[in-house]
Amino acid sequence: MITIGKGIFHLSGDAFSYIFRVLPEGYLQHLYYGRRLSGYIDSEDLFPPHARSFSPNFPGSSDNRYSLDTLACEFPVFGTGDFREGAFLAERRDGSRVVDFRYEGYEILSQKSRPDGMPGYRGGETLSVRLKDTLSGCILTLYYTVYEKEGAIVRRAELLNGGEMLRLLRLMSFCVDFPAQEYDVIALSGAYAMERSPVRMHAEQGIFRISSARCASSHAHSPFLALAERDATEETGQVFGFSLVYSGSFVLRTERDALGSVRVTGGINDSEFCWTLQGGEKFCTPEMAIVFSDKGIGSMSRAFHDLIRGELLPLNRQDTPVVLNSWEACGFSFDPQSLSELIHGAAELGAECFVLDDGWFSKRSSDRSSLGDWVANTEKLGGGLDSLARLCRKNGLRFGLWVEPEMISRDSELYRCHPEWCVHCKGLAYIESRNQLVLDLVNPEVREYIKSCMDKLFSSAEISYVKWDMNRNVTEALSYALPEERRAEYSHRYVLALYELLEYFTEKYPQIFFLGCSGGGGRYDAGMLYYFPVQWASDNTDAADRCHIQYGGSYVYPLCTSDNHVSSCPNLSTGRTTPLKTRADVASLGGFGLELDPKRLSQQEREELHGYIARQKKLRKLVADGDVYRLKDPFSGNEFCMEVVSKDRKRVYAVWVNMLAPANPPQPRLRFRGLDSEKAYRVEETGKIYGGDVLMNAGLPLPLPYGDFISGTFTLSATERREKYD
Ligand code: GLA
Repeated sequence: MITIGKGIFHLSGDAFSYIFRVLPEGYLQHLYYGRRLSGYIDSEDLFPPHARSFSPNFPGSSDNRYSLDTLACEFPVFGTGDFREGAFLAERRDGSRVVDFRYEGYEILSQKSRPDGMPGYRGGETLSVRLKDTLSGCILTLYYTVYEKEGAIVRRAELLNGGEMLRLLRLMSFCVDFPAQEYDVIALSGAYAMERSPVRMHAEQGIFRISSARCASSHAHSPFLALAERDATEETGQVFGFSLVYSGSFVLRTERDALGSVRVTGGINDSEFCWTLQGGEKFCTPEMAIVFSDKGIGSMSRAFHDLIRGELLPLNRQDTPVVLNSWEACGFSFDPQSLSELIHGAAELGAECFVLDDGWFSKRSSDRSSLGDWVANTEKLGGGLDSLARLCRKNGLRFGLWVEPEMISRDSELYRCHPEWCVHCKGLAYIESRNQLVLDLVNPEVREYIKSCMDKLFSSAEISYVKWDMNRNVTEALSYALPEERRAEYSHRYVLALYELLEYFTEKYPQIFFLGCSGGGGRYDAGMLYYFPVQWASDNTDAADRCHIQYGGSYVYPLCTSDNHVSSCPNLSTGRTTPLKTRADVASLGGFGLELDPKRLSQQEREELHGYIARQKKLRKLVADGDVYRLKDPFSGNEFCMEVVSKDRKRVYAVWVNMLAPANPPQPRLRFRGLDSEKAYRVEETGKIYGGDVLMNAGLPLPLPYGDFISGTFTLSATERREKYD
């Protein structure tokens, strides 16, 4: 709900309030963000201003109690007294960077708009607040969309240049200033094959930032951050989560100032950002979703999951099919015979789709060539893609294909025809990564080429599944297709160009299931999820490591967005051997698939796997749509457990993994959460029935671990509560 009165804006949901006001001078003062308040507050009394040495007055004012340096701001800027990290920086023709935005007016919009050319949440009631720079005439519009049930606000900013040309150097999506208090900062950090590990630290005085300068959100940091009360846990305490809808170079910062207040800002990474804005032009930031929870980190995650599933993922999205992907089975080496065996093997196991990964086109038999030449290698395939698709269909499978449209190999026909189409810097030797260069998507001719190649593929060969990969990051961020004064705009323009392509393909081919991938989870962010609702979570398919990767990812992203495959052992990334059951149990927490050659399995393993696939088909709706509870944290102990509870609390599924088996261990227990204590639940694995309260409080005894990396699943369904369990 949005209520406005006496210059106070009150945004509220079922369980939160977010309040700011307009000061008489026209500055926006942030007043409160937290548990829901019944009405407006007498802000003068509750937020008394104090004079502070070295904190300058408002321009032209002699009242030293008010300073932009100490004010909690809605959108802080440079040059008028706020010495903290601002949300805005621009340079005018005369070199001045001072701006002075004052309130102009507001509107309530019944329909939410998206930022131009970028993904965004759907959803309703939106407040837009207009500020005007008294110096340049620029208009800054701040958007706030309220999601009452999810406990979320989606914010963004837009700058309209109402004056002379200026160079925009920073425009954040939002800012929230939190009152002086001790906080922890939580981020999801990692590396290639080890993405999204939660890290938590005390917010000390100074600036903490996570960022990417790679033109992709990166393996190293997810564009997410949370600010939590110091004693907040998975189940208790106040937590504020921030998730950016952007797939390129981003930044999220917290700054604890000298007086203990903490500022959170984020948006497009400004470390090398520069955008020329002519008079009359406008610039939009990506959206930032902000979630408040007063029931710990778990409840923050469930709010993000509801918001992302309900308002961001494509409305026409399909269930993730159970696939067999050829990559770990055979890499680049396959022939018609081995492909046909893989397809038969996949069908026998009960898979629904066969995905031909890298190596199917042109001369590609290693990562050294052919990116850009998207023509089937008929020798390797034993015919065209059509014949392979037919073979899949004969076996009752859909057919899927791997592509990497943003890239070019130097050894390719495309490069020989258009050497100027790769991203490069004249005078500097080319910078290769994985033996490939990046196509200059900012050049419209390149986008047209990608569209025409992919159109040929997507419309001709009965392809109903596409894995879209990106296996390196962008260096030499610059395009000669841009006028000189705009070349520095490259990083953001790359992302806009990418979004244009994704919009084009997803609109044109609604029947295709698109899987996003960037060497695993290198571009697993809310921006990509708007187009491709499932991401290949990591190239690391080791079950023990996947417990960590999937646990961390669930801080923000719903389980249905994570694609998880069962692969062979010893694992390619770690050399570790884990039981087949554990690999299947861990993979069942999301999109499920296979990354192995069925031929190399024993008959017994094939039967086992057949059972796991059948189970997945029954479970996948629950896993995709249910509420997630993280019961055991593999980062702080030897066990992992995640539980999913259906919205009506009648169905429950939990996966438990014990990492290393100690000798003579204490009895491990599993205490469920989120059940209905009035109901009894039948545990399918044992046939036993327990009360919901028993399962949540006493918990089930887990098997004493014998052998490393063992797992268990618990599938509960509600039954009539019987007398003897009361
Ligand atoms: C990336 C992907 C893998 C596979 C290879 C193919 O690394 O993450 O799953 O598709 O590329 O080259």
